[in-house]
Amino acid sequence: ERARGFAGTQQVGVAEPVSAFGLMAAFDVVGSDRAALASALQALTAETRRLVDGVPAEQRDPRLPPADTGVVTADRRPRVTVSVGASLFDDRFGLADRRPAELVPMPFLANDRLDAARTHGDLLLTVSADAPDACLHALRQVMRVTRADLTVRWVLDGYNRADAVHTPGRTDNRNLLGFKDGTANLDPTDGEVMDRSVWVGADRNGGTEPAWTVGGTYQVVRVIRMFVEQWDRASLAEQERIIGRRKASGAPLDGRREEDDPQFAADPDGAVTPLDAHIRLARPRTADTEHQRLLRRGFSYSRGHDAAGLLDQGLAFVSFSQTLATFLAVTDRLRGEPLEEYVLPEGGGFYFVLPGVTDDGWLGEQLL
Ligand code: HEM
Repeated sequence: ERARGFAGTQQVGVAEPVSAFGLMAAFDVVGSDRAALASALQALTAETRRLVDGVPAEQRDPRLPPADTGVVTADRRPRVTVSVGASLFDDRFGLADRRPAELVPMPFLANDRLDAARTHGDLLLTVSADAPDACLHALRQVMRVTRADLTVRWVLDGYNRADAVHTPGRTDNRNLLGFKDGTANLDPTDGEVMDRSVWVGADRNGGTEPAWTVGGTYQVVRVIRMFVEQWDRASLAEQERIIGRRKASGAPLDGRREEDDPQFAADPDGAVTPLDAHIRLARPRTADTEHQRLLRRGFSYSRGHDAAGLLDQGLAFVSFSQTLATFLAVTDRLRGEPLEEYVLPEGGGFYFVLPGVTDDGWLGEQLL
């Protein structure tokens, strides 16, 4: 199956099946000149379009640096998604009246210890590909053409299990706690689901969003460290109660197979699935919460070890949703969950994925 190209009413990289490798890089815009911002976005768009469409770079003059890093060939097409952070709408560019209605700097949420050096940013690049070198190549190419106007703020790279099967309900992708991840996720290939829960549509969320946001979506990034040594000492029964699923199969605690849906209503006191289990709090399966669905698109990361000799591993949680309120409602319910003892959110941010480009326009053109 041929991967979709760059052009589209929505950007590539949100609705496609998960790639084996991922990378995120946040940037700040140098200066406060809107024309410079526009030219940076034009250069970024041109290079992103070339990379995503797999067009080889043209070397015009051998006396100039190579037009391309040469790390991978153009047919190793990455997916690149560009988002904007709340800070782009501060006083610098006069864009305050065009801010997506819910976009604010990510506040300290439950259990956070945010590191400013790994949080926020004016722009966010999300890259995915079938190999880590293809991700790094895309990042370098984009940085080459935007170097005068954008400075890097933070970078994080990681992976999903390479053999992952991405059919909802039957996944072999596991996070670094060793549990299947993505079981009850939304199906991004279902256009109706995406229109209902992920993309901002023509009605602009009931008219609350500025016109340019149509075809975009809210992106939440939470860089969540896992205390893996501590987790590896917790009993299997405890781990399964904390998540609310069987570790080996991914089945809910009241079911046998991964695709069985938990029946929380039949277990009102939490005798089978504790009331504070992660999946029960995240999605109680009640009539008043079922509309609060997120498309989760995270990846695992490892950054060696810290000064105390503890492994620095975790989950770069990424979610896409039509409204930020959905993410906040889920987070609110998760506040104080037993899983908090084993994880620590350290970075990330709130962003808005720019609408796609259908013609020869550029990303952010409608916004500017
Ligand atoms: C489900 C792990 C953070 C929201 C799950 C599942 C696991 C898991 C193992 C069950 C499999 C699945 O359906 O994908 C983790 C870990 C986290 C983490 C290890 C942190 C390191 C978060 C955060 C949120 C979140 C920050 C949102 C605020 C959800 C949702 C589900 C889910 C909505 C699906 C529940 C359902 O529909 O049954 N998570 N998660 N998770 N998680 Fe997390």
